[in-house]
Amino acid sequence: MPPSYLVTTPIYYVNDKPHIGSAYTTLACDVLARFKRLDGYRVKFLTGTDEHGQKVAKSAAAAGMDPQSFTDKVSQSFRGLTKELNISNDDFIRTTEARHKKACQALWNTLLERGEIYLGNYAGWYALRDEAYYAENELTEGPNGKKIAPSGAECEWVEEPSYFFRLSAWGDRLLQFYEDIPDFILPLTRRNEVTSFVKSGLQDLSVSRTTLSWGVPVPDGPGHVMYVWLDALTYYLTALGYPDTQAETFTTFWPADLQMVGKDILRFHAVYWPAFLMAAGLQPPKRVFAHGWWTNEGQKISKSLGNVIDPLALIETYGLDQTRYFLMREVPFGNDGDFSHDSMIRRINSDLANGIGNLAQRTLSLIAKNADGKVPVCGVLTQEDTRLLDAARGLPEIVRREIDVPAFHKALDALWDVVSQADRYIDEQAPWSLRKTDLSRMNTVLYVLAEVLRHLGLLLQPFMPEKAGLLLDQLAVPADSRSFAAFDSAHALQAGTLLPAPEGIFPRYVVEAEAAAHKG
Ligand code: MSP
Repeated sequence: MPPSYLVTTPIYYVNDKPHIGSAYTTLACDVLARFKRLDGYRVKFLTGTDEHGQKVAKSAAAAGMDPQSFTDKVSQSFRGLTKELNISNDDFIRTTEARHKKACQALWNTLLERGEIYLGNYAGWYALRDEAYYAENELTEGPNGKKIAPSGAECEWVEEPSYFFRLSAWGDRLLQFYEDIPDFILPLTRRNEVTSFVKSGLQDLSVSRTTLSWGVPVPDGPGHVMYVWLDALTYYLTALGYPDTQAETFTTFWPADLQMVGKDILRFHAVYWPAFLMAAGLQPPKRVFAHGWWTNEGQKISKSLGNVIDPLALIETYGLDQTRYFLMREVPFGNDGDFSHDSMIRRINSDLANGIGNLAQRTLSLIAKNADGKVPVCGVLTQEDTRLLDAARGLPEIVRREIDVPAFHKALDALWDVVSQADRYIDEQAPWSLRKTDLSRMNTVLYVLAEVLRHLGLLLQPFMPEKAGLLLDQLAVPADSRSFAAFDSAHALQAGTLLPAPEGIFPRYVVEAEAAAHKG
């Protein structure tokens, strides 16, 4: 049986249309899922929409719609974005689906039966924007006297009958768990933030609301709907057919290998979620990775500032794979990063057009012109040839290691290091001048370059599925030789294979002013 791999995105609130943040989390998971599939894993990749709770109910009311029709509409734009971004998710879960309600109620009943949930009254602070409860000592005072959460969200005082989850009893077991699995929370810098929150003492968590009705009804709890975070987190189980924990899907994929989240929702995934699971007798996920936040040209992104970045507009302006590449390359994964049009254009022109694009174009057009458009014969290898080939052949191991963290930027760095080495090699070997002096040497040099491009094309597939596919087409790599099993030498390019006429794959992005100047 192939090894299994479950990767999940958070589910997105449908209070508004998708933005760069949602696109980013989903894209990172897509790269992982595609990578693992190519590497022979049996993958399940989950995403979806978080449709209940006060925030969504409020947005529906503001739009003058009933919550169900509102969520039907907005959820569609998130599903649409997965298509536009070429996301390879295996399922898309909406929390308003019957299968999800069933999973939530089953989990609730299990927690209740195990004595982990009790009825009480909540009196405390709630931040609507975060859909989160905060303790008094976490809050600061805003300019208008309002209480402000660490996230910057305004809090309101809430008092209502509520069911509670006995979170306070889980502190020591959580701390033990973090110690036993030191890489459960990554990046490591975020781990301290979580452990100090747990060490500061956990309070029981309110897990139902009575002042709103837009949620999953609490079984045998008239007037109560489940707290939207308990509801939302359960989606990870819904997708595996929970409560049927004996079914093959569940036993194969749970616990999740990687749960990707933004840094703002780490507490829910690294504290509440493992506590709920352990309390229900289920295993916690193997790893939670918290990525950073994007700013826009140096400014925090917010609706009120009007600087929200629409991923569809980026795709339209710069191209899909260019956008995917930029988002995965520009910022060390895990750090915050800044979006700017200048840096996007710089990446497209220097890394893609002048980097790999130019290398591919030079190699393929030399083959077309001087080697009858066929994969050339590889003669005796020199030290320089072997050095470059070894660098390319060493890539799968490096990339695999970085993807496992995941450190996408480092994986791409390693690929571009080989692009630079190949650039130097082509300049030094000057195959264009060998044509007249040493045809067999020219063939060997072009073969080495084509084989390096094949390695780059294979490894770029998870990041830029379409562009990498075009590169492999240009090298006439058969469809069944595109998984990572094809790094085996048996799949190396075969001399004499006819290649299609070369076509540019990575065009330059020409800034309008530049284009106008060219026209004169
Ligand atoms: N519904 C909850 C998650 C429930 S998961 C069981 C939620 N939804 S969200 O729509 O508000 O956010 C989803 C993701 O988008 C989060 O991982 C968040 O970090 C990410 N981003 C939102 N804005 C972002 C940026 N400006 N930059 C990067 N990612 C950010 O939270």
